[in-house]
Amino acid sequence: MKKSNDIFLETVHNIQQTYGYIPEREINQLAEKFDQPRAKIYGAIKFYSMLYTEPTGKYIIRICDSLSCHLKDSHDLLLAVQDYLGLEDGETSSDQLFTLEIVECLGHCGEGPVMMVNDKMYTELTKGKALEILQDCK
Ligand code: FES
Repeated sequence: MKKSNDIFLETVHNIQQTYGYIPEREINQLAEKFDQPRAKIYGAIKFYSMLYTEPTGKYIIRICDSLSCHLKDSHDLLLAVQDYLGLEDGETSSDQLFTLEIVECLGHCGEGPVMMVNDKMYTELTKGKALEILQDCK
């Protein structure tokens, strides 16, 4: 039997799959469904970094800038990507194509620098390879 937390996460995941984020009206419905205050539902959603309460870009770009990647020049890669996209951490492009996030370790510390594009992981990146990947995002 599933625990209520598992059911909650499955529900919000499905909502995000449908809309790309968790809209306000869905937060209200979740509060009713799980008999919890709206603020508690909102707090639970904000706890998970891969859940969003605002629309995101079609491509969510996550760049690790934790220590191991940082020692392999992830910061230079990050600056090149920020320059190419014209975005700061947490911003979404006006055409809704990209959202950029600077994140903590993505679990590939020995293969840095590391970047994720939606669910796809890219390792041992150079600035040039990263920009090629982004140019293919249409
Ligand atoms: S430090 Fe970058 S993936 Fe772990």
